[in-house]
Amino acid sequence: MLKVGLIGVGGISGAHIPCWEQMEDAELVALCDIRPEQMKPYPGKRCYASLTEMLDAEELDILDICLPTYLHADAAVQALEKGVHVLCEKPISLKTEDVARIYAAAERNHVTFMVAQVLRFWPEYEFVKQLYDTGKYGKLLSGTMTRLGNLPAWSWDNWMADEKRSGLVPFDLHIHDLDFMVYAFGKPVDAARCRTRREDQDHLMAQYNFGDFTIHSEAAWYAPQSFNFNAGFRFQFEKAVVVSGHEGLVVYEKDGGKIHVGSPEGESAGLDLPATNAYANEIRYFADCVKQGIPADKVKPCQLETVLDLLNAF
Ligand SMILES: NC(=O)c1ccc[n+]([C@@H]2O[C@H](COP(=O)([O-])OP(=O)(O)OC[C@H]3O[C@@H](n4cnc5c(N)ncnc54)[C@H](O)[C@@H]3O)[C@@H](O)[C@H]2O)c1
Repeated sequence: MLKVGLIGVGGISGAHIPCWEQMEDAELVALCDIRPEQMKPYPGKRCYASLTEMLDAEELDILDICLPTYLHADAAVQALEKGVHVLCEKPISLKTEDVARIYAAAERNHVTFMVAQVLRFWPEYEFVKQLYDTGKYGKLLSGTMTRLGNLPAWSWDNWMADEKRSGLVPFDLHIHDLDFMVYAFGKPVDAARCRTRREDQDHLMAQYNFGDFTIHSEAAWYAPQSFNFNAGFRFQFEKAVVVSGHEGLVVYEKDGGKIHVGSPEGESAGLDLPATNAYANEIRYFADCVKQGIPADKVKPCQLETVLDLLNAF
């Protein structure tokens, strides 16, 4: 049984905790947060106010880091140096040099480290990567990826609004789509960017040139709190356009019809979509790597460095 501790019991921990709780071969034994009230909804867990305290008192196999971004790297290294495997929320850090520092600590201590870049485990995005890898609809010609919302109002100490602590929209939102691009299509040849920033809003557009095709991407925290979060994509292949939007995942085939992937019509056309939770998928994958004693190399350090370098150019 893997013994797990989680630090940073805020917004995203609400997605991680149920996943750990559902696993039969792992037990979430301890939580850590500087705000004791955050841990109250989880009776039965041992609670700590600092990472040092938790690492000293517990014999953890895994630490799940859900802390604010600027605290990720130091917390990861501290746990890795204690021989604890680490799963860390995105972004790994705001600084590219932290990638080598963290992976060196993991290697030195013979433990596994992974950043929870969740789109790599998201069925709709996996579907696009598979189409790209197999060439089922021919070559990729273009793509558009969007991720739009408003400045998160819930963050502890409003850290999300502080560029030095969160990196704002590039590192909080756009990172998801850029990380997927680098994972699926490799390192872009070049990039063009524009960004509009005000105190309470941040909008960016970027165009990544992959040689044979270009991906256009947009991300925003708009000012109105009434603007509902939405994310999606549109990929144009030679023989189909694939869209993730308000209708779910749809394939518009050049020589066929409009197919809703994952519906009975999609399944009969061989376009299936597993009904899985991406957060559970990433946590399961990481736990399996830990159990097998292998690197969690679905997320590679060189890819993380590429993404951070591109984000730091905004
Ligand atoms: N993968 C995703 O879809 C996704 C979504 C949201 C957030 N995130 C990432 O998750 C991380 C956390 O974001 P959030 O929205 O949950 O933030 P949050 O502010 O809601 O939660 C952070 C928690 O950390 C606690 N904390 C702060 N300093 C601490 C310390 N020194 N020791 C212990 N606890 C401390 C705070 O009290 C708070 O409860 C960020 O890096 C963010 O980028 C990922």
